[in-house]
Amino acid sequence: ENAPAYENIIVDTPRPGVGLVTLNRPKALNALNSPLFKELNAALANFQSDASIGAIVITGSNRAFAAGADIKEMASKTFSEAYNADFLATWSQLTTITKPIIAAVNGFALGGGCELALMTDIIYAGPKAVFGQPEIKLGVIPGAGGSQRLTKLVGKSRAMEAVLTGRNIDVEEAEKWGITAKRFDTPEGCVEGALDTAELIAGYSKIAVKAAKEVVNVSEETSLAEGVRFERRVFHGLFATQDQKIGMKAFVEKVKPEWKHE
Ligand code: CAA
Repeated sequence: ENAPAYENIIVDTPRPGVGLVTLNRPKALNALNSPLFKELNAALANFQSDASIGAIVITGSNRAFAAGADIKEMASKTFSEAYNADFLATWSQLTTITKPIIAAVNGFALGGGCELALMTDIIYAGPKAVFGQPEIKLGVIPGAGGSQRLTKLVGKSRAMEAVLTGRNIDVEEAEKWGITAKRFDTPEGCVEGALDTAELIAGYSKIAVKAAKEVVNVSEETSLAEGVRFERRVFHGLFATQDQKIGMKAFVEKVKPEWKHE
């Protein structure tokens, strides 16, 4: 099988069951242009359909996770062009991936880079990670979900301040706000930590992992009562899987479960 040739990303499977995408436009601090996002979507779709992959990590360089949408690419866009092409809509494809995605953020995660991180399931950060929605400084606003996801994540006052000032949010603050799940002492540690977690997740029943991601995501969209009802129905549904029998039997017998992923 020929691996697809990518120019703006590097795709790898560094651990059992783990797909890694490294954003790779170093000269532009990984600014997210259309070719890059097309490749990212293709790589994610490949991991999604690859039965051996259980979790995915997205990272950038030590200097930049991604410094935003590519300003040079969009500077001359007209309203009609943006509207007709539904500019940035394809970025949301990431949210249709049902396998867990971890962002390992080092350096700048600004604008679209911050929004990309916020679209993933778990954010890990290195010591120099910087988050922010600086679009206001360019005469625009976040366009890839930042105003919505950041607000849900950190609350209105903090999100409003971030979006209206465009200021940088350093890793200490991001951690305090709950943007990051974990902070690491080195950039390499951050990526390795994300790979460790991805490998751990990839070792579980893929059907249970899929259900777990699905129910947590429903909490973002629905009321508590509806969400709890949905969770319980999905929980009930897992009793129809072999992996539930395998997992619980293995616990009782004190052995390691051999998942069938069905
Ligand atoms: N788009 C295009 N090019 C970018 C870029 C971006 N978002 N961010 C950085 N670059 C380019 C720079 O133009 C520069 O290229 P040249 O060498 O050709 O001049 C190169 O990357 C290195 O950047 P700097 O010289 O600026 O590096 P620095 O260390 O001095 O500053 C920075 C780093 C503070 C991140 C600065 O680059 C910066 O402010 N970048 C823009 C951040 C931004 O505004 N992002 C939001 C974009 S809008 C958006 O994302 C919309 C949305 O909601 C989807």
